[in-house]
Amino acid sequence: MVRQKSDEYRTNDPGQYDFWSGHLKYVYHEATELAKQYGADLEIVQLGALLHDIALLEKVGSKADHHENGKKLTEQILQEYNYPEDRLRRVLGCVLHHRSSKDAENIEELCVADADILAHFGNIPILFDAA
Ligand SMILES: [Fe+2]
Ligand SMILES: [Fe+2]
Repeated sequence: MVRQKSDEYRTNDPGQYDFWSGHLKYVYHEATELAKQYGADLEIVQLGALLHDIALLEKVGSKADHHENGKKLTEQILQEYNYPEDRLRRVLGCVLHHRSSKDAENIEELCVADADILAHFGNIPILFDAA
């Protein structure tokens, strides 16, 4: 689902940005590694990693609010899959608090926030693009 949305984003983006290959796959990979290291709940962390920037991918709201809009979108998406409510809340926390590890309230949220930062080191070419 996220891959598909990323392909749609690239097709419609003037800069043809590949959100999956340029960012999300690195966040997913780093978050998975951190979750294993810290003994965090792998599924919560992986869902949080996949969905943390969903509001950017869906172009909902502004970049400044993408963590809050992402939380709303993630809730809608996971409810469609009948994802259990208690676990859904934990994924929402990962999305809402992904922008700074200082905001993280538990180990799963920390994994996603740190992975979001580490992902930029996994993708050095995009730093040159940005510069
Ligand atoms: Fe983000
Ligand atoms: Fe991100």
